[in-house]
Amino acid sequence: MNHPLLVLDHVQKAYAAPDGGAPVTVLTDACLQLAAGEAVAIIGPSGSGKSTLLNILGALDLPSAGRALIAGRDLATLGENELAALRNRELGFIFQQHHLLPQCTVWENVLVPTLTAPRELRTPAALARAERLLARVGLQARLAHRPGQLSGGECQRVAVVRALVNQPRLLLADEPTGSLDHANAQGLGQLLLELNREEGVALVLVTHSRELAARLPRVLELRDGALHGVLE
Ligand SMILES: Nc1ncnc2c1ncn2[C@@H]1O[C@H](COP(=O)(O)OP(=O)(O)O)[C@@H](O)[C@H]1O
Ligand SMILES: [Mg+2]
Repeated sequence: MNHPLLVLDHVQKAYAAPDGGAPVTVLTDACLQLAAGEAVAIIGPSGSGKSTLLNILGALDLPSAGRALIAGRDLATLGENELAALRNRELGFIFQQHHLLPQCTVWENVLVPTLTAPRELRTPAALARAERLLARVGLQARLAHRPGQLSGGECQRVAVVRALVNQPRLLLADEPTGSLDHANAQGLGQLLLELNREEGVALVLVTHSRELAARLPRVLELRDGALHGVLE
């Protein structure tokens, strides 16, 4: 059967209150279907649950009710090892901070996901892919640099290559331009859109920039715990 790449089926998420008080319900009825290679922007005010939603899409957290499926597999039915393998092979993550290893070079950083990948992904072809992607994002002359020797925008581009190195089917980006100045933010947004098309990787981009969101073919707003279509 040809499943959508991603499905959220009436997802709810509540967090237990740290002080033992009433749980905080963040997602009440989030529904989403994403086809392979599709790109969608998710906007919404701070605290509306965007990161909560992305954590569920990224198999980092489970819904309290409802189902989250990647390629037809219900994430709640997978064990820890299966979830880890799914995250490593099918998903790429980018966050507001680059989370690069400061003591490692650019080249070493982008190869980190290949270290835990199955043997067939650790081939000369994987190294060639890393090299090609670094050149694609304009960092071919920075392979031996460490993150402290790069600009914020360059670090985010390294993080993008690291997220794509295992050839994932889905790229999840949580406010990836949030710590960049306007010009770098625009450049990174454009790069993510181009890579979505060139690499055929689906993209879920959480951003508070309506300007950036409007450049994606589909925009959803997270409001009152549910996703709503936004007409431009
Ligand atoms: N691990 C957690 N435990 C309890 N509450 C949480 C946790 N993570 C997030 N929240 C709460 O859920 C709400 C949504 O948070 P979040 O998903 O980070 O929103 P956004 O990314 O849209 O700013 C916030 O009110 C936040 O305090
Ligand atoms: Mg957030």
